[in-house]
Amino acid sequence: MNGISIRTERLLLRRWSDADLPALAALNQDSAVMEFIGPTLNEAESQAMIDRAERSWKELGYGRFAVEVVETRELIGFIGLAQCKFESHFTPAVEIGWRLAHKFWNLGYATEGSSAVMDWASANLRLNEVVAFTSISNIRSRRVMEKIGMDRNISDDFIHPNLGPSDPLRQCVLYKRQLAL
Ligand SMILES: CC(C)(COP(=O)(O)OP(=O)(O)OC[C@H]1O[C@@H](n2cnc3c(N)ncnc32)[C@H](O)[C@@H]1OP(=O)(O)O)[C@@H](O)C(=O)NCCC(=O)NCCS
Repeated sequence: MNGISIRTERLLLRRWSDADLPALAALNQDSAVMEFIGPTLNEAESQAMIDRAERSWKELGYGRFAVEVVETRELIGFIGLAQCKFESHFTPAVEIGWRLAHKFWNLGYATEGSSAVMDWASANLRLNEVVAFTSISNIRSRRVMEKIGMDRNISDDFIHPNLGPSDPLRQCVLYKRQLAL
């Protein structure tokens, strides 16, 4: 499992190392990146994200990949799978998610990396389905979901159970894609 990585035309999706912390912490401290996610994260919280991702890889055989641009070797963020950790009408479920540093947006990187993760999951994991969710107003992320062949059924929309009644991010949309087994 340690060696898992995915190479796409422009990206390398790989396991995490301690050297990734400064770049991940920088994007998690950017309020533009976190606009539809929640409060910005400090360095310890970013380290905890890396630790969670690596634990997921070891225990489940999937997780969030560290994503770097092949040409420059820069770490630009994460793309990958995680277990949904809250209770809702669609859980238990495995979700695909992504978060990239602002200067790398709109270059097609999230679409390129996440479609490769879907292909990898189809070939290597025994999963029937992958879901994705986000705040209803996160149009950029929803666009990626659509571009990688995920479908939204309006009746699956849900209120995020961990967000309070006055939180503008609590109204969420759910997208799904079946995987070929
Ligand atoms: C969501 C995110 C990962 C997308 O990454 P990306 O590499 O820019 O995505 P892509 O370039 O592959 O695709 C972005 C799409 O959104 C579209 N888009 C960008 N800004 C938009 C806007 N304001 N309104 C509508 N569409 C927009 C782009 O045009 C593109 O679609 P297109 O190819 O049909 O033109 C990135 O914006 C990000 O990290 N955001 C902050 C973190 C986040 O919200 N993560 C998701 C939490 S669920």
